[in-house]
Amino acid sequence: MTQKLVELYNGNTIPALGLGTFRVENNDECREAVKHAIISGYTHIDTAQIYNNEEKVGQGIKEGLEESGLKREDLFITTKLWMSDYGRENVQLAYEASLKRLGLDYVDLYLIHWPGQDTALISETWKAMEDLYNEGKIKNIGVSNFHVNHLEELLKQASIKPVINQIECHPYLIQKDLRAYLEAQKIVAQSWSPLMNGQILEDEVVKEIANELGKTPAQVIIRWNIDENIVVIPKSVTPSRIEENLNVFDFELSDSQLSRLNALNKDERIGPDPETFSAE
Ligand SMILES: NC(=O)c1ccc[n+]([C@@H]2O[C@H](COP(=O)([O-])OP(=O)(O)OC[C@H]3O[C@@H](n4cnc5c(N)ncnc54)[C@H](OP(=O)(O)O)[C@@H]3O)[C@@H](O)[C@H]2O)c1
Repeated sequence: MTQKLVELYNGNTIPALGLGTFRVENNDECREAVKHAIISGYTHIDTAQIYNNEEKVGQGIKEGLEESGLKREDLFITTKLWMSDYGRENVQLAYEASLKRLGLDYVDLYLIHWPGQDTALISETWKAMEDLYNEGKIKNIGVSNFHVNHLEELLKQASIKPVINQIECHPYLIQKDLRAYLEAQKIVAQSWSPLMNGQILEDEVVKEIANELGKTPAQVIIRWNIDENIVVIPKSVTPSRIEENLNVFDFELSDSQLSRLNALNKDERIGPDPETFSAE
């Protein structure tokens, strides 16, 4: 099974599919899930400072590399800066603490987790991210949960554009306008909660398309992301589902199947709205 790579505007690439680890506790289940994913063929893992699981994610990476024979540079590891560490002074320390917990000497992608409500603070934080990138300490820098207005503000001050914006996205929230803006800016869209924590797998249209293709609803949703050029990071700690979710590179959705999925859009979120979300 060939994993698809998506090109970033800076010439680097990111695997189109990765493993999510939100709400996976810092315990053996986490270590096992990450290890199982790598052994099964995942080369992309998504975590965050706020998930409090970077240690076990790191152990899973180490064991996965040992068992698979892959090298560190074969993997794409993402972590995210939490809001408590925004500001020019804190970013480097927060980054180094994440690396230490992960047991890595760099990550492939570091994201500002949420835009928050303070534009000047984000601008300072982004400068510190740019410093780390310019010093060669991070392969790529990006943002998460940024709307067009947040990106426009950021780009006024930025000397380096984010490579990625990680946003809530699934057929009930297709993010048409934001994705069009990202495409015009050559910023890759990445979806979080792609399965809506399982909710969208119950949709009748999704089930119908799964039956037509002899695939599962989860595989249909994951494939929707890939066919729409969205990098996707479904979370699972269940070995059979980890494998199932990767098994999406032997089929494509037809134009009419894509249209039927896109027609499900109702701008429905499962997570917080970035316009109002703050850490307090
Ligand atoms: N940037 C952000 O602000 C942000 C916010 C939220 C999430 N994220 C990232 O995005 C990742 C994915 O989002 P998410 O964890 O919220 O939710 P998700 O991937 O939409 O859904 C995960 C849920 O679906 C279940 N599942 C997975 N594969 C399945 C399958 N094949 N069949 C049936 N059920 C299946 C999982 O169960 P089991 O685990 O029990 O198998 C889990 O309960 C996160 O883990 C995190 O890395 C980022």
